[in-house]
Amino acid sequence: MKDKQQETTMAAFGSVFMPQMALTRFEQGAWSTPQIVAADSISLHPGAHVLHYASTCFEGLKAFKHSDGSINLFRMEKNVARLIQSSKLLSLPQPDAATLSQMIIDIVSQYAGDVPEPPGSMYIRPTHIGTEAAIGKAAAPTASSMLYVLLSPVGDYFAGGSKPLRLLLEQNGARCAAHMGMVKSGGNYASALQPILKARASVQADQVLFCPGGDVQETGAANFMLIDGNEIITKALDSSFLHGVTRDSVLTLARDMGMTVSERELSVSELLERAAKPGAEAALSGTAAVLTPVGTLIADGMEHKVGSGEAGPATLKLRQALNDIQWGRAEDKHGWLTRI
Ligand SMILES: Cc1ncc(COP(=O)(O)O)c(C=O)c1O
Repeated sequence: MKDKQQETTMAAFGSVFMPQMALTRFEQGAWSTPQIVAADSISLHPGAHVLHYASTCFEGLKAFKHSDGSINLFRMEKNVARLIQSSKLLSLPQPDAATLSQMIIDIVSQYAGDVPEPPGSMYIRPTHIGTEAAIGKAAAPTASSMLYVLLSPVGDYFAGGSKPLRLLLEQNGARCAAHMGMVKSGGNYASALQPILKARASVQADQVLFCPGGDVQETGAANFMLIDGNEIITKALDSSFLHGVTRDSVLTLARDMGMTVSERELSVSELLERAAKPGAEAALSGTAAVLTPVGTLIADGMEHKVGSGEAGPATLKLRQALNDIQWGRAEDKHGWLTRI
């Protein structure tokens, strides 16, 4: 166990998998009874719809081990609802929320003994793909699909400290097509890759903050928040970006702490103006990143420090409050945990 834990901590995030997964197939208009199968057991026709027309969506959530030994899923219903919404927007068959939730519970229960201790966790990756062998269906939905739940034990994302990130502000290109932002689909990540690689190579940025036309949206895999005094500012929900579960959780905790939460449009010029204040903070929120401080914004070839350029107290406090609930060290006031 100790060795496995250590291995997980050392391995890159998401590169170790449990040997089995939960799986159901949609064929001839009906879902099969979910089964637990070997994680490397699926086969796909090379003409499968997903391989050509990207009929794919996925989710990312975590299970946490508490000191009493119990295993707890964090806000599973939100991720299940988002996968159903993504499936709908991609014209994939509609999964059933109760069935998918049970698949998640069943596979995590099977590997309860492998859930790492905090700060580690079991990362859960429900995935839905179009399987019909039909290369003529570029403009038609897949008739069959496969929905599976993979598990990957993950270590401390912050091993070695959470150094504040450098973000390049991309004001021309978008992360993905405007109507696809709220869909958690592979194609959106593929579309963001070139700008991210260029930003790494040209200005050693960690991530790109997509701000098409000056509208501050999100990075390739996390939502963005600005903290100015007692106010936390982030883009209001619309179809252009992913509605993060962590975003919603952090905003709820910020309200609980008496902070003012402003969900509204944020322009690049307002962001840079506010970021220049001495106490300003910025952070990225996401299941993997939790709440990661942002120290530097790079816009039009100029580097701008956010406040002191270091991790700020509000960011650390919010991250701690979230971790405390996830790890069972604070009361779960909002009923976010499902104990299995
Ligand atoms: C594009 C994008 N935005 C935001 C998020 C944050 O979402 P969540 O907090 O639900 O993990 C993610 C990560 O999952 C993401 O990939």
